[in-house]
Amino acid sequence: MSAESGPRPGSHVLILGGTTEARQLAQSLAAEPSYRVTSSLAGRVASPVLPPGGTRVGGFGGAAGLAGWIACNDVTHVVDATHPFAERMSFNAAGARALTGVPLLALRRPGWTPRPGDAWTFADGLEEAARLLPDLGSRAFLTTGRTGLHTFAHLTGTWFLVRSVDPPAAPAPPHLEVLLARGPFTLADERALLARHRIDLLVTKDSGGTATAPKLTAAREAGVPVLVVRRPPVPQGVPEAATVAAALRWLGATGPAR
Ligand SMILES: NC(=O)c1ccc[n+]([C@@H]2O[C@H](COP(=O)([O-])OP(=O)(O)OC[C@H]3O[C@@H](n4cnc5c(N)ncnc54)[C@H](OP(=O)(O)O)[C@@H]3O)[C@@H](O)[C@H]2O)c1
Repeated sequence: MSAESGPRPGSHVLILGGTTEARQLAQSLAAEPSYRVTSSLAGRVASPVLPPGGTRVGGFGGAAGLAGWIACNDVTHVVDATHPFAERMSFNAAGARALTGVPLLALRRPGWTPRPGDAWTFADGLEEAARLLPDLGSRAFLTTGRTGLHTFAHLTGTWFLVRSVDPPAAPAPPHLEVLLARGPFTLADERALLARHRIDLLVTKDSGGTATAPKLTAAREAGVPVLVVRRPPVPQGVPEAATVAAALRWLGATGPAR
């Protein structure tokens, strides 16, 4: 990196985390002496995989709370590396940028696209997915996360296999089996899972990335249809990077707010 484009001494990067990419970015920055890095986690997962560098856990208290934290901790850059479905936090990050002027980047992995042989139906949100689901299958592999499970609780005619990192809380659908697991998942495991539970519908968010993509391949191979929940809107005017490498380039090229 040139002196013009490299990190300034004292750069403090706040990573809004909860994703593989957030951890990878923290790992890369922790190896660079000119960066101080703090990763922020919401605290939803009981035993999160902690990234290297500094960490903090729990909400900030909206955009204003985040702006206060940024100011009090001399943050020079914010990277919103939250999950594509963490809608509120991305808007809070944009709000904090407006309040502080501290540069913000959204590190957002691209969504998935269907391939030949895929039978995908798209839903705008979990509520629409729950409306469409009974017409698409009767043994559903639900991978949309434990926090939205209540949306499917009224579906008494469907059997669910629910996969999540921590156990889901009530209300939940009456006929379900819970599988506690944390990705990445292999194609062989996903194939076996679909066959063992006689799954006839996969329900997923359009999370993108490679860690959980093998379930889509397994579904295609087995002729299992997929109900895909589309991504929520993102704040306008925030620069985006699709990869950790692109985020590192942005950090190198972006000076702190003056
Ligand atoms: N939604 C998903 O499908 C999903 C999947 C995998 C991982 N995750 C991760 O899980 C976390 C929570 O997701 P969510 O969908 O509940 O988010 P959300 O709806 O966008 O956020 C709700 C609130 O949680 C707090 N929060 C969220 N992310 C935070 C972070 N990285 N650091 C500190 N506080 C945070 C904020 O509270 P305050 O307003 O009080 O600051 C925010 O207003 C995110 O960090 C996300 O990356 C989400």
